[in-house]
Amino acid sequence: MESLYIHIPFCTQICSYCDFHREIANPQKKKAYINALKHELWYFKPRLNNLKTIYIGGGTPTALSPAMLADFLAFLNEHINMAQIKEFTIEANPKDITETMAILFKKYHINRISLGAQSFDDALLKLLRRNHEAKDIFHAIDMLNRHELHNISLDMIFALPTQTMNMLKKDLKTLMHLKIKHISY
Ligand SMILES: C[S@@+](CC[C@H](N)C(=O)[O-])C[C@H]1O[C@@H](n2cnc3c(N)ncnc32)[C@H](O)[C@@H]1O
Ligand code: SF4
Repeated sequence: MESLYIHIPFCTQICSYCDFHREIANPQKKKAYINALKHELWYFKPRLNNLKTIYIGGGTPTALSPAMLADFLAFLNEHINMAQIKEFTIEANPKDITETMAILFKKYHINRISLGAQSFDDALLKLLRRNHEAKDIFHAIDMLNRHELHNISLDMIFALPTQTMNMLKKDLKTLMHLKIKHISY
């Protein structure tokens, strides 16, 4: 097995458009899920010797508390040889990118961050029931860059209700000014 995807099905808010498996959960449920993941990883350990990429997605992996995420990342680092991993991605929501999170990513060899931006239009973000504004996206990108986490991907959405062609063009212009390695629209 060369690629491993790990799903963290928790979010701090539920966006209006989302079709993924996700829920708002209490710390006990999150802890039980992480414990179950650890058991499963341990069971599959013999098949993880040739891994090249790891992707932690969701839901929102950064909806775990920093302590819970650190505990899980430490487990991964203990059981998987990180020296052989070419790309280790985590999905995150802009507001979760604190200094503590950035330090955690670095410490546990995460080298690519996929940020859910969707749009830079605050009215659209509100309509989507995102828990962030455009300024939080810029702040998150700055914070990641400051911690030498330059491999950033942005998730965007177009053809949103009320979105005009001019609004889309404005988002595209903003994207062109940001030095982003990968954009998923
Ligand atoms: C499932 S989320 C996981 C990462 C993080 N929670 C976030 O919101 O970015 C990954 C991306 O999927 C996209 N997405 C979610 N629901 C979608 C839908 N119904 N149609 C198209 N894209 C969707 C959004 O762009 C979102 O950023
Ligand atoms: S934060 Fe991401 S996973 Fe959670 S509901 Fe919103 S789009 Fe879906």
